[in-house]
Amino acid sequence: MIYKVENNTKLNGTIKINGSKNASLAIVVGAILAKDIVILNNVPNITDIHDLLDILRYLNCKVDYNDHILKIDGRNVVYKDLRIDKIKKLRASYYFMGAFLALFEKVNICKPGGCNFQNRPIDIHLNGFEKMGAKIIETDNEVCISCDNHLKARQINLSFPSVGATINLILASVLLEDTTVLRNVATEPEIVDFIMFLKKMGANIDGEGTKTIIIHKNNRLHGCTYTIMPDRIECGTYLIYGAALAKKLTITNIISRQVRSLLSIFIEMGIHMEIRENEITIYETNNLKPVKIVTGPYPSFPTDLQQVICPLLLKADGQSMIIDTIYSKRISHIEELKKLNANVKIVDNFMLIDKSDKLIANTIKCNDLRGGAGMLLACLMSKGVSYLTSAELIERGYQDIVLNLSSLGVHIERIIDNEKI
Ligand code: EPU
Repeated sequence: MIYKVENNTKLNGTIKINGSKNASLAIVVGAILAKDIVILNNVPNITDIHDLLDILRYLNCKVDYNDHILKIDGRNVVYKDLRIDKIKKLRASYYFMGAFLALFEKVNICKPGGCNFQNRPIDIHLNGFEKMGAKIIETDNEVCISCDNHLKARQINLSFPSVGATINLILASVLLEDTTVLRNVATEPEIVDFIMFLKKMGANIDGEGTKTIIIHKNNRLHGCTYTIMPDRIECGTYLIYGAALAKKLTITNIISRQVRSLLSIFIEMGIHMEIRENEITIYETNNLKPVKIVTGPYPSFPTDLQQVICPLLLKADGQSMIIDTIYSKRISHIEELKKLNANVKIVDNFMLIDKSDKLIANTIKCNDLRGGAGMLLACLMSKGVSYLTSAELIERGYQDIVLNLSSLGVHIERIIDNEKI
């Protein structure tokens, strides 16, 4: 898919943020542990969710998704081989490892796909399962996990606070007969939301949002109704679009404290805004100051927003720098920006961004979801008509982005047939 983009106006209006993609992905898989009926509100209508729901149907779950409300009936969930193509389509499919170990004490699964901006190992997940007594056979593309004896509750120290490994180990532990302690876990809000959901299903867990999580023994899970938190990365994305292009843009349905690291950068840059608990308004600002951004685990600046903010930094008076300590090779957007006449370069692992106020439209490519969202902003900042290819990657994580931008005054068109440009 291609987006044809031209922008001659300042963005003006309001955007309502959807439910969190990454919280939803974990929660949807977690729902099968109840073997009951779970109703989830505020589930975003994005392709990653639809791909996950196809896997649930394959596992004999009944799924009904309408108007952001998802009903999962997992009463007849069955064990199946997960060496199937759908697993390769998205990253979050690795949560079936933890969920299957909890339900069936075994899983044969393809390695996950999703945004492959660099090698994304899953050794911390697998080491954790091994410590719980699982036997692992790993090839380049598949993982087979089984237990000679039952899976055991353990005390596990993660070598790095991985979001996915934290959630996967919670999934694997939540039905065990003894207490599990996970240390050096990730503290991202999506993990807190995931644990709040498990608690609503009856789990007894302590420590969410801290570096140590305790999963108490003998949890008996049951169905529930739960509302997913707002997407802080979607929120951050539109805030950045606003900082670059808005006359006045209000972002609603958010939890402002979850984007604190971005707001601190905005303050340093001198961006005019009004911050309320669940709503932020961004005003047109000139004379932006350059900044240095270092990504890190929450509450540091999120890696998922560094590619998005990169084009905004082209407007600052001086040289800005981005260092992604989570994914040091998440840099393919830099080459695309150069095609728009941007003054950007990579020195070692530093992305250096100099003021470039004459961006010129061109045909550029989305290489991954967040990079795509950044390139869309860059196209909107360029003079003329740009074509953004592989734009379907953006729709893996941003619901209605074309409709939203159109409502703010942008000329943007979705071209399904590549031959039309
Ligand atoms: N890591 C390992 N071994 C592991 C797991 C992680 O070395 O077993 C390393 C990674 O290579 C990376 C760091 O640890 O350098 C952090 O990775 P993490 O496991 O936290 O990432 P993830 O769980 O695979 C989730 C999000 C990503 C987001 C990262 C970081 C989901 C489905 N994905 O990935 O979201 O970038 O956390 O916050 O929740 C996106 O939404 O576009 C996206 C890529």
